[in-house]
Amino acid sequence: MFNPQIQFTADGSHTLYIPEMEEHYHSVNGAIQESLHVYIEAGLNQCKKETINVLEFGFGTGLNAFLTIVEAEKRNLNCKSALAKINYTTIEKYPLPVAITNQLNYAKEFAIKYQPYFSKIHTCEWGNFVKISTHFQIKKIQSDFSDFQFEDNYDVIFYDAFAPDKQSDVWPQEIFNKIFQHSNPNAILTTYCAKGNIRRMMQAAGFQTERIPGPPGKREMLRARK
Ligand SMILES: C[S@@+](CC[C@H](N)C(=O)[O-])C[C@H]1O[C@@H](n2cnc3c(N)ncnc32)[C@H](O)[C@@H]1O
Repeated sequence: MFNPQIQFTADGSHTLYIPEMEEHYHSVNGAIQESLHVYIEAGLNQCKKETINVLEFGFGTGLNAFLTIVEAEKRNLNCKSALAKINYTTIEKYPLPVAITNQLNYAKEFAIKYQPYFSKIHTCEWGNFVKISTHFQIKKIQSDFSDFQFEDNYDVIFYDAFAPDKQSDVWPQEIFNKIFQHSNPNAILTTYCAKGNIRRMMQAAGFQTERIPGPPGKREMLRARK
């Protein structure tokens, strides 16, 4: 459906631009910085469970999944807290060709031992859990997020859809209701989006919400908790 073009963002990491939508996959102020801030620090790192079920809207470039693996491996290495395992489920309607993901420069920013994980998450099969590292397994599902039949309950949700003004149909009340029903107690949902109507939908679904400081170039973002 899309014809993405690779572009550099302000922190030197790549993003994809979709001319047909006039939309980027990440913040132009820094893709890695944004992903670390919104999904790893504000989301994953707030969950103190030993086994964490993560749910992602939009696998896309795999940046969030890759940074999650790096965090899981680092956490265990440093024994910051005993993290046994991350089960990462990601729903993607329009998977990217490997010819594009092969060119992305995310892995280069990290230690050599982490680099192979990036190609592994892109080349592994869809539809089943695949173990990528000691503490991380991924299930990539090709589906419209709205049609996805939830199989598990989740602890951390990365809501990384295109912006509401570019793709309004992926921000409906029903999706937030469904996520809430399939969230474990104390689950955390984060998104770069800070819009009031999205916050109200999360609240109507049952979440407690807060606006917290956003990544570079963005004043605020949303975090919701069950
Ligand atoms: C803002 S991008 C972020 C992707 C990814 N998290 C990343 O860091 O590259 C949004 C993603 O949602 C996917 N997408 C769009 N509509 C979708 C839908 N209805 N269901 C599932 N995924 C969808 C897009 O193809 C794209 O990969």
